[in-house]
Amino acid sequence: MVRIPEASLGSSDKKIPRVGFGTAEFPFGESAEVITESIVHAMKVGYRHFDTASVYKSEKFLGDGISEALRLGYINSRDQLFITSKLWCRDAHHDLVVPALKKTLMNLKLEYLDLYLIHFPISLIPGEQDFPFEKDELVHMDIKAVWEAMEECQKRGLTKSIGVSNFSCEKLQTLLNMAKIPPAVNQVEMSPLWQQKKLIQFCKEKGVHITAYSPLGAKGTFWGTNQVLENQVLKEIAEARGKTVAQICLRWVYEQGGSLIVKSFNKERMEQNLDIFEWKLSLEESYRISQLPQHKAYPGLIFIHENGPFKSIEEFWDGEV
Ligand code: A2P
Repeated sequence: MVRIPEASLGSSDKKIPRVGFGTAEFPFGESAEVITESIVHAMKVGYRHFDTASVYKSEKFLGDGISEALRLGYINSRDQLFITSKLWCRDAHHDLVVPALKKTLMNLKLEYLDLYLIHFPISLIPGEQDFPFEKDELVHMDIKAVWEAMEECQKRGLTKSIGVSNFSCEKLQTLLNMAKIPPAVNQVEMSPLWQQKKLIQFCKEKGVHITAYSPLGAKGTFWGTNQVLENQVLKEIAEARGKTVAQICLRWVYEQGGSLIVKSFNKERMEQNLDIFEWKLSLEESYRISQLPQHKAYPGLIFIHENGPFKSIEEFWDGEV
């Protein structure tokens, strides 16, 4: 079984495994068996860090996978796992945060999370339907009020760490200015085609750990792109090194210093994606990758609306797009 390197996280004594397993599968809430089975197999081959979110509707499947892996002896206790979930925009209102996390914990059949993230820097008016939503339901997020409630979650021991996802440097700075407990993590898109150089530097300076999502470009999803795995330069490097393009991408992201979430429900690829620790990219390979034209796979168009808090992609990402 592969042992995955870990990184320290803020003031928490629980370390984050630097490769995690993604559980978002569209349409959300379907494919229960496939997801649960994949998670159990992932634990068998060494994954310990699992990423879910309220909106993915995969929390219950992950909870079932954890129970099954415990029964089969693939893990000895829940404490060996690092479980992340995310606050959906509907619940991104001060009084809804703690109840949302309690519901997440009930879905997962867990007493605590390792990491709870604000999923996006925007709220939706409270209501039943998580996804899809109407764009006129998008509202400004009161970050101070929401973050206070996130801090409350950590103080109550419902989660070991708190953080954000999809925050630009500017939004992160606004949060850092007001936070009593600073965000431990910013989970953002990162791949050789979306390198996040500015954000990596900023987070390093501020002590915020970056977790990369869609390190392979999330091909085959409604938000993803084939451009990463089809990239000619990456293909050439992969061929010359006897690796797959996916391994080159994952190794590149890993070398940026944070952690990454990769999703594969294919057993062979699940193992292949862990075979990235015993070798390095050469300086020349890293240089070639650093020169690749950039293309963001997930611009977040669903959050842009002429009457909403963000009227353009540039506003949503504060120009970091
Ligand atoms: P599959 O589940 O069939 O393996 P990301 O992690 O960037 O969101 O990308 C996930 C997508 O990449 C999924 O469609 C997944 O498909 C595919 N994928 C994951 N690992 C590999 C790999 N090693 N080679 C090719 N495709 C992969």
